[in-house]
Amino acid sequence: MTDELVLTLTVNGRPVTARGGAHLTLLRWLRDVVHVTDPKYGCGEGICGACTVLVDGEPVSSCILLAAQVTGSSVVTASGLSNEDGSPSLLQRAFHAHHAAQCGFCTPGMIVAAAALLAEGGNRSRTELREALHGNLCRCTGYGPILDAIEAAYAEGGEAGVG
Ligand code: FES
Ligand code: FES
Repeated sequence: MTDELVLTLTVNGRPVTARGGAHLTLLRWLRDVVHVTDPKYGCGEGICGACTVLVDGEPVSSCILLAAQVTGSSVVTASGLSNEDGSPSLLQRAFHAHHAAQCGFCTPGMIVAAAALLAEGGNRSRTELREALHGNLCRCTGYGPILDAIEAAYAEGGEAGVG
């Protein structure tokens, strides 16, 4: 008996059908099977946020979700948030402009989490932003530049900051 399954998901707008073990996490399926490597393996326990991706528009920790649980879904990673022509989105440009990445390990998950916040619309205070991102840990920046970048994206484009 084999635990191999054929999974079909849309990854960053591209339909993908690929084999995956029944016990393979979405993070491992993305990185090792589909070779989409921007989501990172940090804690593996749903705590650090490095593996955050959007599943049908909702931010999730892909390290604690089985790929088989979300077959048929649409998955978007940080690289999938770029503009259609491949140029960086407003949010991605803001991260660059505000030096919101140092080692960069947290950055893909941080950008996905921030994009989900921007997509919700509204206007969050700095404190609210900090609280909303409590599930995404950064060991390098002290969070200030990350919050600066997100605030700049809000100011410039609001919800359109995602695109
Ligand atoms: S690697 Fe998934 S939350 Fe840390
Ligand atoms: S930039 Fe290094 S962990 Fe955030």
